[in-house]
Amino acid sequence: MKNIVTARAHTNIALIKYWGKSNIDLNLPTTSSLSMTLDSFYTTTSVEFTDKATDSLILNSVSADSTRISKFLDMMRTQYDDFPKISVISKNHVPTAAGLASSASSFAALTAAMFEILELEKNKQEMSRIARRGSGSASRSIFGNFAVWNKGWDDVSSYAESFYNQDIGLSMIVAEISANQKKMSSTKGMQLAQTAPTYNSWVKKSALQLEEMKSAISQKDIEKIGLIAQDNALGMHEQNRLCQIPFDYFTNQTRRIIDFTNYCYNSGLLAFVTIDAGPNVKIITDRATEQKLLTRFRAEFPEMTFDVAHAGGGYEYL
Ligand code: DP6
Repeated sequence: MKNIVTARAHTNIALIKYWGKSNIDLNLPTTSSLSMTLDSFYTTTSVEFTDKATDSLILNSVSADSTRISKFLDMMRTQYDDFPKISVISKNHVPTAAGLASSASSFAALTAAMFEILELEKNKQEMSRIARRGSGSASRSIFGNFAVWNKGWDDVSSYAESFYNQDIGLSMIVAEISANQKKMSSTKGMQLAQTAPTYNSWVKKSALQLEEMKSAISQKDIEKIGLIAQDNALGMHEQNRLCQIPFDYFTNQTRRIIDFTNYCYNSGLLAFVTIDAGPNVKIITDRATEQKLLTRFRAEFPEMTFDVAHAGGGYEYL
């Protein structure tokens, strides 16, 4: 039996968003979602058995609150044979909690590491289902390229699977507006959003958009992918503004980037936005256009950092 295991998983960006829960305890979503796993942003996690009295977490070389991972490990203790306490050492190569979905890569890496140390069969469906309990979006980071998380109806039926395991030349330019801790967690934000009177129509539209998105990916039609993803994401943020306790992840800079992206699109370049639970914007484009856009964005926003990401792989062991 191995005593220490290290796994890596990449973050993913949803093109069709998960934004709402039908069951909070089991972390079941109100919508199915679809994402692309990124190559440049990832989490590396080591797990080790310990005879200490509690699970512990060292995140980015600093001792951190282990409540959330401990809850996750306790869930695994009930699903499989009980196991000793675990010390977790994790490093995020992602601007943490700024809407770049580090919880996705974190819980996917932790799941992969735990499956190895516990010598569980590496059934990806099962790994995805378990990762989901840590963070919904983590269910998709088990896979490379494009993954769909089918919402399912109970703990067993809600997991992600590989949808299209090919790099279709989609590029994402990440505009890092803020690497500060976000003010509203996605867990809380989506539950508030569900109180918007328009929420159910967004859910219905999302189901249609998922099917359109699948065919756009199969056709490698980046323009279609971008248009659908942009509409889906802006619709998600609209729910935040219309819910009972309205909130907004956008800052002025977020809005400026959105406007400039639209301006680029109207001037004939492939450029679309998607935004998660934070102010940062991901610009969807293709390989042929990415350098042109980068030059334009860097000139327009000299104070911001822009990174480029392409499709990345699923979890791996180091
Ligand atoms: C906006 O997976 O972070 O990034 O399940 O509560 O941990 P929890 O939420 P989380 O939500 C991600 C929301 C999103 C959209 C997406 O990735 O689909």
